[in-house]
Amino acid sequence: MKEVVLSGIRSTGNLHLGNYFGALKNFVRMQDDYDCRFFIADLHALTTTPDPKLLHANVKNILAEYLAAGLNPEHATIFVQSDVPEISELYLLLNMHVGIGELMRTVSFKDKARKMLGISGGESDDDIEKQIIGTDSNKRVNAGLLTYPTLMAVDILIQKAHKVPVGKDQEQHLEMTRRFARRFNAFYGTDLFVEPTNFNFGSAPVKVPGLDGSGKMGKSEGNCLYLIDDEKTLRKKVMRAVTDEGPKVPNSPVSPTVENLFTLMELTSTPDTVQHFRDAYADCSIRYGDLKKQLAEDILKITLPIRERILEYQNDDALIARVVKQGAERARHYAAQTLAEAREVMGIKKFY
Ligand code: ADP
Ligand code: TRP
Repeated sequence: MKEVVLSGIRSTGNLHLGNYFGALKNFVRMQDDYDCRFFIADLHALTTTPDPKLLHANVKNILAEYLAAGLNPEHATIFVQSDVPEISELYLLLNMHVGIGELMRTVSFKDKARKMLGISGGESDDDIEKQIIGTDSNKRVNAGLLTYPTLMAVDILIQKAHKVPVGKDQEQHLEMTRRFARRFNAFYGTDLFVEPTNFNFGSAPVKVPGLDGSGKMGKSEGNCLYLIDDEKTLRKKVMRAVTDEGPKVPNSPVSPTVENLFTLMELTSTPDTVQHFRDAYADCSIRYGDLKKQLAEDILKITLPIRERILEYQNDDALIARVVKQGAERARHYAAQTLAEAREVMGIKKFY
């Protein structure tokens, strides 16, 4: 029996190179060797209350992007979270064993709550807690956001996944999932839930930098190179990347902004090309314009074919419907089994 792999991406916008190298590329590599189940986390997207029209359009975009990047619905189960109502029921049940204290201490919760309350930083955790339980209803932090880790744990536990390929930022959520599984199993004296681990082919989790010198590429950072960017847009973004004045003496250390360009180049260009520019940096002959042109070229080699397929799949409603229907059926099959087992051990039984 193949091990079960599960992962998902929230439907909050188009996928960028961070999502691609941090998650999606691994998904594609794993689909033949594992029992893979990949989904769109639309219920998780609701925790930041998106416009309903945008939510649906984004689910469709990401489905098209999954397929365009090479996920094959014949090999992997591809589904939408909200198509599996068993997840919502188990989420309610598991919440009975999750403490509000541990949820409030989650880093992602504190970050997002800060944003919702319009707090810029500096405040202690105590101050944030006071504001959260305060009564100003305009600045509500919704309970869905607090229980985000329970929902994520249920996504994983309901499929009995062994491996969960995610970026570094999700490690705390995964650790909580393991804790919830252990706690539930111990409380009911069962081995129902499997404790999952992160997975990325043995290498350290990738962090794709932004080109604005600000660290991580991310949707909320506004510094993304999107898979769906057209040629002109992408070239323009790369040519505008922040650099420095250039090396003045041989073998100077590389500044963080320029290192970001090299990091992207290492992900997208051949080793010879990277070496050529590293050497040029070392002997001070480097011209950043040339490096950026080459980088844009090599990124486009990866993204343009994907972009073409995205545009094609986005317009193929019949294909998308077929993929998610088949995916939902498979995902529900496993989810219903786990849910029935959980109800049973918890003592929820029918009289009729
Ligand atoms: P974003 O940070 O843009 O909102 P998500 O939180 O939806 O992206 O992330 C979806 C997946 O992509 C996660 O597995 C996450 O770890 C990965 N990911 C996102 N940004 C990056 C990045 N810059 N580098 C590596 N992985 C990333
Ligand atoms: N929290 C993840 C993110 O922001 C998305 C996610 C939801 C997920 N449920 C999951 C990832 C289950 C892996 C497994 O990227």
